[in-house]
Amino acid sequence: MRVQFRVKRFNPEHDKQPYWGEYEVEVESTDRVLDGLHSIKWYIDDTLALRCSCAHGICGSDAMLINGRNRLACKVLIKDLKAPIVVESMRGFRVLKDLVVDMEPFFAKYRAVKPYLVNDEPPPLTERLQTPEDRARYDDTTKCILCGACTTSCPSYWANSEYIGPAAIVAAHRFLFDSRDRGAKERLQVLNERSGVWRCRTIFNCTDACPRGISVTKAIAQLKKALLFQTL
Ligand code: SF4
Ligand code: F3S
Ligand code: FES
Repeated sequence: MRVQFRVKRFNPEHDKQPYWGEYEVEVESTDRVLDGLHSIKWYIDDTLALRCSCAHGICGSDAMLINGRNRLACKVLIKDLKAPIVVESMRGFRVLKDLVVDMEPFFAKYRAVKPYLVNDEPPPLTERLQTPEDRARYDDTTKCILCGACTTSCPSYWANSEYIGPAAIVAAHRFLFDSRDRGAKERLQVLNERSGVWRCRTIFNCTDACPRGISVTKAIAQLKKALLFQTL
């Protein structure tokens, strides 16, 4: 079948304003949006810029706005979408070119919450043990692939990009609820700042956007509670 794509194009080196590129591509019923974008790039206009790597919903590099919702282009079937398929870069990040955005501020916020195990205690002879119940406390937030779909769909983030954003909070949650971790004090300090969890207004766009099905808003609520009642 043939499908129409409208892709928001912008090359800051040449263009004063973004503009819409219109393309018609031949696709199979099993093709995903990423296949359609590749058809455009490989057969119609090789200047189209996009990021992707795994093509299987694992690396998180191809999050973009597809028909108005943040999605991974490699996970959305073209046949499930209304045409024309409108594709734009994620909102709230600086566009480097077309669908490629500057992720550095996003990763700076991620690094700020120390997304790794903090524990200076002498290591045991075997591994640091943990019960299945303790492991279950942070199971959901281990699934994050750092795609940015949550942060860039959050109106609080659009209003103030100082907000640390749901993705960084999810990363903090993953370690704060890990019984082996000892970095709670430093992480909670970051989350308690003006740019931290209190900027979340429980809008739920993040949860809706997450391609991994993580209960992002719930994780944020658990951290607000931990800060209020000092339960960590
Ligand atoms: Fe992407 Fe979900 Fe992780 Fe946010 S929480 S970065 S939407 S995988
Ligand atoms: Fe934003 Fe999600 Fe909170 S959309 S306001 S981080 S619930
Ligand atoms: Fe890796 Fe889509 S290309 S998640």
